[in-house]
Amino acid sequence: MSMVSEAVRWQDQKLSLLDQRLLPHKQAYSAIETLDDAIENIKRLSVRGAPAIGIAAAYALCVSARQYAGEADFDRRLDIDFERLIAARPTAVNLRWAATKVREAAINANPGDALAKMIEEAETIHADDRAACRRIGEAGLSVLAELTPRADGALGLITHCNAGALAVSELGTATAPMYLAHAEGQKLHVYADETRPLLQGARLTAWELDQAGIPVTLLCDNAAASLLASGEVQAAIVGTDRVAANGDVANKIGTFPLAMACQHFGIPFFVACPSSTFDGHSATGADIPIEHRSAEEVIGSVGASVDVYNPAFDITPATMVTAFLTDRGVLRPPFADSLNLLRE
Ligand code: MRU
Repeated sequence: MSMVSEAVRWQDQKLSLLDQRLLPHKQAYSAIETLDDAIENIKRLSVRGAPAIGIAAAYALCVSARQYAGEADFDRRLDIDFERLIAARPTAVNLRWAATKVREAAINANPGDALAKMIEEAETIHADDRAACRRIGEAGLSVLAELTPRADGALGLITHCNAGALAVSELGTATAPMYLAHAEGQKLHVYADETRPLLQGARLTAWELDQAGIPVTLLCDNAAASLLASGEVQAAIVGTDRVAANGDVANKIGTFPLAMACQHFGIPFFVACPSSTFDGHSATGADIPIEHRSAEEVIGSVGASVDVYNPAFDITPATMVTAFLTDRGVLRPPFADSLNLLRE
């Protein structure tokens, strides 16, 4: 099972976030005392990964609301906090989902109870997320059982970015089937795309799987198609920041080319996520806002003064997804129908 520190820590009603920018070299937590602290840490990816951002945001609203609990302008200030918080990262729908649930808990409470109800809701979101990861892992185990391992007995799996324990809680999403299969004694070999430009695959996924004793090989993103051509990989499992109603998937930039390569070689492409990542308000991937980040992240030490194209996410068409591994089981095509049933 995962051996890494938890991304979001809520202890004695205090919020702290593992600064993932420092990993794997240093494990340090930042105390979150204001909404500005939270927004800054979300924007600079100290906390990242759609579900972890949602959990952090849920607690951050509570931390901020504590400063004006019981005051006459509570609702107005909570609305302002809410709008500022959900603008911090636009693609991960879990951010809006979790913040909305915490705000609604306040709206539905007696004024004197609002803060307590918000905290209760944030803690529920956190606890539910842990349980969801385990169920995603169990859904993943059932699809892995259908695959034929390589001649060496190992199942080769490729993943992109980090949809692991650091992006969620405990088992992660894409990594949950890996942790459970490994615990059951299934021989695995995971290939982790390094994930340019911020190297979440190299710094986080490869590190967390290695810590758990799961054999892992790191590769440059542009080596993925050659790896698939070699026959060493039986399936891809990735996470997602938002799934549209038709099954189009937003995930870390580079996911779409991986899915295209999988389709070319007939390799199953699985997307693992909790129900909170399905967004019925986005009809297709074209409706999902894609975050663009600074030129500095790409050009960094090179320092050339040219324009930079740096979208943080891309859209993988639903037609390239074999199945969704969710906390409510395995969802197969046609996704417009299976996702509709899930929402109902
Ligand atoms: O920019 P990041 O590091 O927040 O991007 C994270 C991803 O793309 C993950 O794959 C996604 O959020 C799913 S995490 C379970």
